[in-house]
Amino acid sequence: MIALSLAEIAEIVGGQPHDIPDPSVQVTGPVVIDSRQVAAGSLFVAFAGENVDGHDYAQRAFEAGAVAVLAARPVGVPAIVVDDVQAALGALARDVVGRLGTEVVALTGSSGKTSTKDLIAQVLQRHAPTVFTPGSLNNEIGLPLTALTATAETRHLVLEMGARGVGHIRYLTGLTPPTIGLVLNVGSAHIGEFGGKEQIALAKGELVESLPESGCAVLNADDPLVRAMASRTKARVLLFGEAADADVRAENVRLTDAGQPSFSLLTPSGCGDVTLRLYGEHHVSNALAAAAVAHELGMSADEIARALSEAGSLSRWRMEVTERPDGVTVVNDAYNANPESMRAALRALAAMGEASRARGGRTWAVLGPMAELGDDSLAEHDAVGRLAVRLNVSKLVAVGGREASWLQLGAYNEGSWGEESVHVSDAQAAVDLLRSELRPGDVVLVKASRSIGLERVALALLEGAAEGEVAAR
Ligand SMILES: Nc1ncnc2c1ncn2[C@@H]1O[C@H](COP(=O)(O)OP(=O)(O)OP(=O)(O)O)[C@@H](O)[C@H]1O
Ligand SMILES: [Mg+2]
Repeated sequence: MIALSLAEIAEIVGGQPHDIPDPSVQVTGPVVIDSRQVAAGSLFVAFAGENVDGHDYAQRAFEAGAVAVLAARPVGVPAIVVDDVQAALGALARDVVGRLGTEVVALTGSSGKTSTKDLIAQVLQRHAPTVFTPGSLNNEIGLPLTALTATAETRHLVLEMGARGVGHIRYLTGLTPPTIGLVLNVGSAHIGEFGGKEQIALAKGELVESLPESGCAVLNADDPLVRAMASRTKARVLLFGEAADADVRAENVRLTDAGQPSFSLLTPSGCGDVTLRLYGEHHVSNALAAAAVAHELGMSADEIARALSEAGSLSRWRMEVTERPDGVTVVNDAYNANPESMRAALRALAAMGEASRARGGRTWAVLGPMAELGDDSLAEHDAVGRLAVRLNVSKLVAVGGREASWLQLGAYNEGSWGEESVHVSDAQAAVDLLRSELRPGDVVLVKASRSIGLERVALALLEGAAEGEVAAR
């Protein structure tokens, strides 16, 4: 964090100093919530979680070099005591970002936030020093912690914003008010918790409502619910997508034999050719979104196209493609799943299968449950099972309980009988089946909601294959 004295911090967060002999001592190190991450000069933020209470680690944090603890009660070492630790952390982030005057780019959407944020960061880094959300830390704690890593050199702060309900994005935009707000899509992620797509659109649109008149709302022209958000903002609107009226567009979109999208990028300032290192056509939309943000920040189409073509995947288990020495390709997309991302991944698998079929290879979709779909769960699992058959995926392995049986039944009803679709009870059973069946040239997609931990299947299939070519990182 930028250097601030304990007296200044206490004032910003409205807290009471306790056991602080010298309030002029400065916090100069990182602000952390895990005592194991404390470094010299840190501020340790004590949260009381379900299983662990950070206050119990205050002493340890102090001994490890923390200057003080932000806490809900005195802890026997220097502390700034507040009523609400989360609100205090937010207030500190807001103040620091305000002091720095950093340009905040915020993005939200149902699918692809992390993938797009990583693309934006890699493109903007070429332009000016950029700080961005690590991984998917997009909530009321991860967001301020990320913002607090910005320094005086930081020009762009790129923040992923997640929402599980109405009001969540409004809260986050209050902490780090963005000048550029990007909405990717409105899909079905967490639809059960939200209570419908309109509710999701309502929640995601809070991002553009927060923008100032001088700001820019970057909206997906291909998603009607996102496009409609133009009426909810004072800011200028920049549209991206494949629609003819989009400001930032793609033409000649195709997938290479390896499943990587290639397209001509058109921006108001020119055009350039892009071939992504990421897999799956859904990344075209993500790349256009990133291009629109970079264009808004003054980068040329040529520069953007080059940066996009060189950008890799920074976050794990998202369409992570590894070819084993024996010629089996494993696509680990087990980070998470919802109906849109399942469809996107299946389409990518089908494209990769085109090339492998020529070599006698087959495509395998090893799919598990999609969580939090509420009343739509049966229909959505059924539809994914059917899509696997329509896309001519050679084998569907549905893993898990009731939802997996719906996946398999969908495939069965679409015409995938016999051994073409199977239902197994757990990850180990899937691994056993695949180990005995896979042969060179096969491509295996592994995907399910995070809570299922299906990456275990992909990792087991890759055990001992470390020398295999890692195609994307
Ligand atoms: N534009 C897109 N449309 C549909 N699916 C996508 C899109 N972009 C990425 N995906 C897929 O969605 C899944 C999640 O991707 P990513 O982690 O980028 O999304 P996220 O919105 O950050 O998710 P979370 O809500 O878990 O933070 C991955 O399986 C990825 O392949
Ligand atoms: Mg994410």
